[in-house]
Amino acid sequence: MKVSVRLDFSPVTSDLAAIVHELYLNCPTYISLIGGDMPTLNDIRRELDTLRHDTRRQALLLMQENRPVGFLDYKVAYPDLHSATISLLLIEEKLQGQGLGKAAVEQLEAQLSSRMDRLYAVVYGSNEQAKRFWERVGFEHLRDSGPTLSWYMKSLK
Ligand code: ACO
Repeated sequence: MKVSVRLDFSPVTSDLAAIVHELYLNCPTYISLIGGDMPTLNDIRRELDTLRHDTRRQALLLMQENRPVGFLDYKVAYPDLHSATISLLLIEEKLQGQGLGKAAVEQLEAQLSSRMDRLYAVVYGSNEQAKRFWERVGFEHLRDSGPTLSWYMKSLK
């Protein structure tokens, strides 16, 4: 069922790694789709620690009524000064298909549109569901970089 959704974006630091880890644990289909092992809590902690050193990178918990429902990782001024790039949008598996992903993208577009011209999304692996999602929310397929990365783009102007 589609619902009208309002999400809060809450910055993630490594002390919130357990919450992000829980989201990954709740998305087993995605992990098997990209052919990886489920990350451990320490993997997540290390990754979030690394993010801290890159001020252009934003890791956010997507909160709905104070409950974490997803994770968003994007980088501003990348790949050029006037663009931002989403590397991961993850919605908890049992909440997928209810409009949360679309709401997250729309809210991010609204936040970025005054300072960025373009928003990119980079899809890893043969994730056909994600490719359909990005097209459905208005992104166009730009190119495939090698066999595992597909670039999508939406103009914010
Ligand atoms: N196939 C076709 N269309 C789809 C699919 C799909 N698998 N998933 C969503 N859509 C369409 C919906 O039908 C909807 O269209 P509508 O507005 O015309 O009805 C639109 O996309 C928005 O759907 P949402 O319900 O907002 O999508 P959801 O909340 O499930 O979020 C997401 C989509 C982020 C892909 C989610 O399913 C998810 O977390 N999947 C696992 C992780 C993943 O693959 N993330 C993307 C990786 S690539 C990247 O982040 C750059």
